Amino acid sequence: MDKSLTTTLLFSCFLLISLSVSSLAQSCGGYSFSENQVYSTCVDLSQLSCSLHWNYHTSNTTADIAFRKIGASTSNWIAWALNPTRQGMDGSQALVAYQQSNGTMRTYTTQVDVSGNVQPANLSFRVHSIRAEYAGGDMIIFATLQLSDSLVSTNQVWQEGPVTGDNPGPHPLTGQNRQSVGTVDFVSGSVTSTGGTTTPKDRKRNVHGVLNAVSWGILMPVGIIIARYLKVFKSAGPAWFYLHAICQTSGYAVGVAGWATGIKLGSDSPGITYNTHRKLGITIFALGTLQVLALLLRPKPDHKYRLYWNIYHHTIGYTTVILSIVNIFEGFEALDREKNWKKAYIGVLIFLGSVAVVLEAVTWLIVIKRKKTASSDKHVNGVNGYGSRVQQTA
Ligand SMILES: *[C@@H]1O[C@H](CO)[C@@H](O)[C@H](O)[C@H]1NC(C)=O
Ligand SMILES: *[C@@H]1O[C@H](CO)[C@@H](O)[C@H](O)[C@H]1NC(C)=O
Ligand SMILES: *[C@@H]1O[C@H](CO)[C@@H](O)[C@H](O)[C@H]1NC(C)=O
Repeated sequence: MDKSLTTTLLFSCFLLISLSVSSLAQSCGGYSFSENQVYSTCVDLSQLSCSLHWNYHTSNTTADIAFRKIGASTSNWIAWALNPTRQGMDGSQALVAYQQSNGTMRTYTTQVDVSGNVQPANLSFRVHSIRAEYAGGDMIIFATLQLSDSLVSTNQVWQEGPVTGDNPGPHPLTGQNRQSVGTVDFVSGSVTSTGGTTTPKDRKRNVHGVLNAVSWGILMPVGIIIARYLKVFKSAGPAWFYLHAICQTSGYAVGVAGWATGIKLGSDSPGITYNTHRKLGITIFALGTLQVLALLLRPKPDHKYRLYWNIYHHTIGYTTVILSIVNIFEGFEALDREKNWKKAYIGVLIFLGSVAVVLEAVTWLIVIKRKKTASSDKHVNGVNGYGSRVQQTA
């Protein structure tokens, strides 16, 4: 049982990491559509967690597109539009989709004006086909657009809002709903950003976020859980120690890289300072480094100072992890738009927390059982005092 527990823990450690990395690093490339539809180009639209996928046919200037909202709500409508005239909503040629109260998807095209009118209408270009689906938590609009030369590279805008009474209701006018604009070039596959699409800077921030969340925020807590709970299973032997050391050292190595990307980001953006985030980051890095250095000073298990070293090691360890979790949430605030990251990380924390609670209970049961066995042995032997040491000397 102990061996399988070890394997399970180690396995879930890696599973968690790969899960969180894939959900944190939003990437349209790996997505497989139903009916095996394959698109040669895709771009992540980081506002509102969307992505645009397409195949462009030069022979007849048509584009087969799929607009995907990741983690969509069935009580929201989604829309994607080209705007040949200007940036933003006014004049946009939109594809709209939402789920009706009877469960079927409604999809139509509309020309949006300043008043926000979304009555069905034909677009300024021909739409050969349009349909939508809600699958695996994502809402996707599929369409074939008849583009013209001027439409091959133009403005795009996308949006979501609540469905009210089986009709699209007004969408929020703040935050991501305001910034979901950009341009798209169907031929080159490039997108420029006016706030909506993923820029190299965003990418650096994302890398920074993923490295730190995985190392300080996942690997290290997992390492602590391993040290705290695996120790109890005597037959697991020293396995806990090696697993703990692996999690902590790899966490520290990745964490140092993450920390360095943070320092770089900070020096690349004078004028933007996330003071709390920065100070916490530096403190955490210092504490983590202290933990590593303290390993060199670790007294032998039976040394009289070992107890104090243990207290020190535990205090700094727990403090580092608590501060790290706080700082990861500070980071989410700085990123502001990545609500899904926050959700994913909260999910990871809930999972780790539940595992810890269950293992805490198991540990107590085992300890109580051992005490009982020990005291009944004592009774049989008629030895005064307590614990196995006394029995050995008797
Ligand atoms: C456009 O051309 C592609 C291949 O070149 C073809 O598969 C597609 O059906 C054409 N679309 C239309 C609307 O003619
Ligand atoms: C669902 O409702 C819409 C509008 O209320 C209607 O047009 C459509 O036919 C309905 N579909 C089904 C399968 O009942
Ligand atoms: C939209 O265009 C189609 C043909 O492409 C036409 O049959 C239909 O009447 C048009 N609808 C409106 C509302 O103009």
